[in-house]
Amino acid sequence: MCGIVGILGNTDVAPRLVDALKRLEYRGYDSAGVATLENGTLVRRRAEGKLRNLEALLERSPLAGTSGIGHTRWATHGAPTTANAHPHKAGGVAIVHNGIIENYLELRDEIAARGTRTETETDTEVVAHLVNLEREKGLSPQEAVAAVLPRLKGAFALAFLFEGEEDLLIGARKGSPLAVGHGEGEMFLGSDAIALSPFTDRVTYLEEGDWAVVTRNSVRIFDSRNNEVERSESRSSVTAALMDKGNYRHFMAKEIHEQPEVIGHTLSRYIDLGAKQANVSGIETAGFANLNRLVISACGTAFYAGLVAKYWFEKYARLPVEIDIASEFRYRESPIGKGDFALFISQSGETADTLASLRYCKSHGAVIGTVVNVPESTIAREADVMFQTIAGPEIGVASTKAFTCQLAVLATLAIHAGRIRGVLSPEREADLIEGLAAIPGLAVQALKQEIAIERLSQPLSRTANALYLGRGTNFPLALEGALKLKELSYIHAEGYAAGELKHGPIALIDENMPVFVIAPHDGIYEKTVSNMQEVAARGGNIVLITDERGAAECGDVAGKIVVMPDVHEIAAPIIYALPVQLIAYYTAVFMGTDVDQPRNLAKSVTVE
Ligand code: AGP
Repeated sequence: MCGIVGILGNTDVAPRLVDALKRLEYRGYDSAGVATLENGTLVRRRAEGKLRNLEALLERSPLAGTSGIGHTRWATHGAPTTANAHPHKAGGVAIVHNGIIENYLELRDEIAARGTRTETETDTEVVAHLVNLEREKGLSPQEAVAAVLPRLKGAFALAFLFEGEEDLLIGARKGSPLAVGHGEGEMFLGSDAIALSPFTDRVTYLEEGDWAVVTRNSVRIFDSRNNEVERSESRSSVTAALMDKGNYRHFMAKEIHEQPEVIGHTLSRYIDLGAKQANVSGIETAGFANLNRLVISACGTAFYAGLVAKYWFEKYARLPVEIDIASEFRYRESPIGKGDFALFISQSGETADTLASLRYCKSHGAVIGTVVNVPESTIAREADVMFQTIAGPEIGVASTKAFTCQLAVLATLAIHAGRIRGVLSPEREADLIEGLAAIPGLAVQALKQEIAIERLSQPLSRTANALYLGRGTNFPLALEGALKLKELSYIHAEGYAAGELKHGPIALIDENMPVFVIAPHDGIYEKTVSNMQEVAARGGNIVLITDERGAAECGDVAGKIVVMPDVHEIAAPIIYALPVQLIAYYTAVFMGTDVDQPRNLAKSVTVE
């Protein structure tokens, strides 16, 4: 998604704008630009592609000025060209925008009828013209923005800069996040705390519908009815240090290796090791004792975490689970209401489809829970209860540590729900808690397979397709493994329930089809192995991910084997996520794709 930054500084801001935009690269983008006021005059520099192109342009043609705005664009309306790159400008108004103005065509017709033609294909430029037309009527910048905002439909975060107004930024949010950063005699606007981390950790998040008038020494915030409101200032936990790759080649590699630590942090928040119990604070809000079902919705990798959780809630809490991808759920008119508890899983807490599904359930009277990594995000703030993953900022677009931390939270939630519902004995709970507590150490062991995985991934980089198979909680892992390979290496891959193979996909099997089989020694290991033998009988090129016993038993059937440590059933989905992440990572490295910002992808999909 797009990234926004604004600075009212005491020094030239162009380099600082670019530095902040670099911290937003993880959101995914295909062009970038900045605008400053040079002696009160609006001046822009914009470039297609990566930020290094904008930096080169600024080298050749520097920008002065201590007030400015910047933007990384993920194209929604109009090709990723320099002309369509933000900031957009109309008269003395410059604007940067994250989101979609859904009624921009009718607004564009309106300004055309008033004799104003747009120069680009973007929805954003239309907003600049609308504000400029209000300014031409003699309205102040604040009055002009106040007049235009109510007319915009859709989701947006906006930042405005005005010619001749060296000490003014105006920001607005509706559906896409925007924060104010408080400096010493300086002020900032940013899409999130990460963008602001080079300048300050003092952050005020705008609420839905808010807009802010910012000077170097003041912030006035107004709600959607233009009433002046107070919004609290908080300390961001994101420090610039967290935003570095350290000695890793990619953020994704760093985040894969952070998993033993951050899974441990997350588990320690939700289990009482002494009592050998799950201890999820806020769980009483869910009302698990009286629930007839649990509704779960999410997108992408977060959805796969929910799929794993379905097995856990049904097995350990005897609670039926209905789960759906949020882009379908939001329009399905699902019969949900009072007495229901709906759980939304999201790393960013800003995914548009997940947020829309949350709002649907909330509007129908359900109690809302969320498993989320960003506690100040929109989803976190609109839920009745938040179960935070302690993964730290996840910069790589492909989700890794957030996924395994989501699983850690969901496992403890299912166990605690089982105790509340009186269906999980203390002995069984203690056994499960011990299984969870062993995960950080087992994850360190699992990651020792990295070199073997790097080696087996090299030939993968020449394949056109791949299949992932698993049963039980390994089936969602097969889906996740396929997604990781797709989104990182652009190789087409499918995840399948191993038992489904003979209902069609087995027709795909030949010696050119790599088949990854995820098979820890769990209750359905033998079933998975027999599916694997069906593949082997047809010349399939098998990579088996299993444990020592599995390796000993199936060494002759699988072409390659990745050996995991022996794990408790509850730990398997978390530990076996690590090799599927590494397979995708090294395949992408061999293919030379942009591992941290794969093509066409955004870290947080804040538009439909
Ligand atoms: C994960 O690797 C993907 N980048 C993507 O599927 C992601 O999980 C999905 O967009 C949901 O994002 P969220 O967790 O921030 O809601």
